[in-house]
Amino acid sequence: MKNKLLVFAFTFVTLFTSIKETVAMVNPPDSAYLFAYSTTNNLGKNGLHFAWSVDQKSWTSIGPEHRFLFCDYGSWGRGKRMLTPFLFLDQNQSWHCIWSLNETEGVFAHAASSDLSYWKPQTYPTVIMGDNCLFPEVSYNKTTQIYLITWLSTATKDTLVYGVTTSDFKAYSEAKRLKANNRLNVRKNITIGGVSETGIVCKVSWYQIESLIDAERLSSYKLQLEEESYNDDDIRFKGIKPIDATLSFDVSQSKKISDLLIGIFFEDLNYAADGGLYAELIQNRDFEYSLHDLKGSDKSWTSTKAWSLRGVGGTFTIDTVLPIHANNKNFAVLKISTIGPSLVNEGWSGISVTEGEKYNFSVFARTPENITKKLIVRLISKDGAVLGETSVTVNSLKWEKIDTVIAANQTIADASLEILPQSIGTVNLDMVSLFPQKTFNGRKNGLRADLAQTIADIHPRFMRFPGGCLVHGDGLNNIYHWKNTIGPLESRKPQRNLWGYHQTVGLGYFEYFQFCEDIGAEPLPVVAAGVCCQNSSDGGAGQQGGMPMCQMDSYIQDILDLIEYCNGDTKTTWGKKRAEAGHPKPFSLKYIGIGNEDLISDIFQERFEMIYKVVKEKHPEITVIGTVGPFEEGTDYTEGWNLATRLGVPMVDEHYYKLPGWFINNQDYYDKYDRTKSKVYLGEYASRGNALYNALAEASYLTAIERNGDVVHMTSYAPLLAKDGFVKWKTDLIYFGNNYIKPSVNYYVQKLYGENSGDAYIENNLALSDSKETVRRRVSASVVRDSKSGDLIIKLVNLLPVEVNTHVKLNGMDKMDTTAVQTTLTGNPGDKKVFPVTETCTVGSEFKISMPAYSFKVIRIVAKH
Ligand code: AHR
Repeated sequence: MKNKLLVFAFTFVTLFTSIKETVAMVNPPDSAYLFAYSTTNNLGKNGLHFAWSVDQKSWTSIGPEHRFLFCDYGSWGRGKRMLTPFLFLDQNQSWHCIWSLNETEGVFAHAASSDLSYWKPQTYPTVIMGDNCLFPEVSYNKTTQIYLITWLSTATKDTLVYGVTTSDFKAYSEAKRLKANNRLNVRKNITIGGVSETGIVCKVSWYQIESLIDAERLSSYKLQLEEESYNDDDIRFKGIKPIDATLSFDVSQSKKISDLLIGIFFEDLNYAADGGLYAELIQNRDFEYSLHDLKGSDKSWTSTKAWSLRGVGGTFTIDTVLPIHANNKNFAVLKISTIGPSLVNEGWSGISVTEGEKYNFSVFARTPENITKKLIVRLISKDGAVLGETSVTVNSLKWEKIDTVIAANQTIADASLEILPQSIGTVNLDMVSLFPQKTFNGRKNGLRADLAQTIADIHPRFMRFPGGCLVHGDGLNNIYHWKNTIGPLESRKPQRNLWGYHQTVGLGYFEYFQFCEDIGAEPLPVVAAGVCCQNSSDGGAGQQGGMPMCQMDSYIQDILDLIEYCNGDTKTTWGKKRAEAGHPKPFSLKYIGIGNEDLISDIFQERFEMIYKVVKEKHPEITVIGTVGPFEEGTDYTEGWNLATRLGVPMVDEHYYKLPGWFINNQDYYDKYDRTKSKVYLGEYASRGNALYNALAEASYLTAIERNGDVVHMTSYAPLLAKDGFVKWKTDLIYFGNNYIKPSVNYYVQKLYGENSGDAYIENNLALSDSKETVRRRVSASVVRDSKSGDLIIKLVNLLPVEVNTHVKLNGMDKMDTTAVQTTLTGNPGDKKVFPVTETCTVGSEFKISMPAYSFKVIRIVAKH
């Protein structure tokens, strides 16, 4: 292994040195000019750029459009803009960059750096209300040691000059109107690549310029590796012959690895919960959809969404007077003057029913006139055929829950539900629900059986839920609060789903814990770290907001209550609620995630630390999982790791979505990790594609994860589910429609790893007949042993266009079944429909296995006892 690393390190250093040599000057000047600017391309979202010059006449950009600093303010759609950056070197030789964010808000951005490449977390002080903040500038008063930041505001007809002062870029004075002569006006226009750009010129050492050039070159080299794809394999591997490989290992040479490596991450994204895993067949059952769910972009997304009145002689309206529960304020009012009209629900683009299956129908109803009303409830096809029918009687002035059953007489994917009043007058309806009786494990308010089973088949050892961005939410008002998601369905608090729809929270915390138990997965709930998502655009601030400090105690108490809900005995307040929900036995919670790929700002750090300290003190038995930002490197990653190390957080959650080339070329990512620091939960990763090549790149990376199973304790591919027609985030693991499931090729990789996990990693040596680096990185192996069964599992990945004939030399396994099971996933690299094939093979202390071009193979050798 060590040798492998040395070869990789050597190749990388050699390549990078040769890149450096191409830019090294023979007689470099001592100093040069640096021009800092941002372009207007991509609406100004391309960040901070640099160009250099020795004479201020001829300028060279350092990688056109290469960003040395990326603005993280606002949502991905409209935010992330860097306008008119101003670069400034302070007395302590620290660089500061301030910039304008947009044309409307009175906010500017600040970040500091010691080398112009690594930037500390950004801050976004609001300096003026009701006006904007354009062309910010900084000047320094040596006597007072105070910085003055001035800007132009243009909301009124005159352009006004304002300023604030600061000594630390953390606390700012109130904005004051200033005279125009307080402005430095030092921005210059420089022509770069034929385009005139506005920015700041600074004199710096040549060394500084060279290190920026190096940084850009390294970054483009990394990108080049990441973008390596199978489309170039014809050229990359021209003339390549089948490879001979020898995989040798001694079963007694092993190290302990985590037995929780393969898990799942569930988030209600792409209609994963409502309309997906949650088996409810009625859309908008509580009439709580609202325009705000989609921020007003769809005028039809209101409380009547998915409902309609069919026929004449009646009206269908929404009322809010005396609702079932304050959290469920809307209900339907059906006023019938002539028998005939019906209230119809279209389901989730149709209701899928199966012939012979029974469906539980329930509704909360009341009759305001106190006159008994009969309602026919039926399933109908598009052409009006009745697929199943029942009736209910409403005879209460107060809200009453009515339950009945409908049996389907046909299998159809796009039925609808019809409620036909048989009496004249008014009836109020709410929580109209239709559930298949056959839910996963037969649970009430349960999950779609086929979809849940597909997930269970991965054999996930843990489940992270309920998100993702969904947890920290779009704005402080959108943070996910677990308490809103338990208890009777009619009392739960539905809310806007930040992925652009609505969450009923019918699939709430109780159901998540129950599902974990049903599939043998450790529950891993994630709570917000007292901050909302940094990509927020709703509810005021277009940035990460922190809960007001006065709310933090009660928020932390909620987290302690969650632990009690799971683990407390039935006499405790929250343990009792769990028992009332039907689960007196504890859920035995062991892990809790705090935060989701947050911006590691001061606002975050302060709140995270408060939560972490209390949870650690009150529940030392719980493993807290911190967060280190959304990427595999950069500011949040570094600051997140620093924070975790400082506080001694036991585990951190890493996220990265990269192209297959990244996974192929970064197999040593965790080999380099310090074993004494926090353990890793790779909570979100994917190679951004559903072709076989992507799946193989992930399989190959997972061999490296198994090798590093002493530091990486858990992994989960993301996202898990996506409903066809509602895919907001591409790419996903399992696609589905109302009546079908389409697992991706990537799914089979997860499943094969889940079914064939081990808890001991066996050191191995993989020698190849062709030792070129590009070849070596495309053939990988991992050997693990499962201590419970004693079985030995060999995983082999071949990302080459030729076969790899592998000679396995296995030592130290005395008793084994010589007939093993091998499962192969292979095809053309671009194939999206590839299925694993399982067959038997003969094994022994030495045996040969062929790995077809572009393949993943798992061989399970059964131990004989
Ligand atoms: O998995 C989809 C999203 O990706 C998650 O919600 C978020 O954590 C990440 O950015």
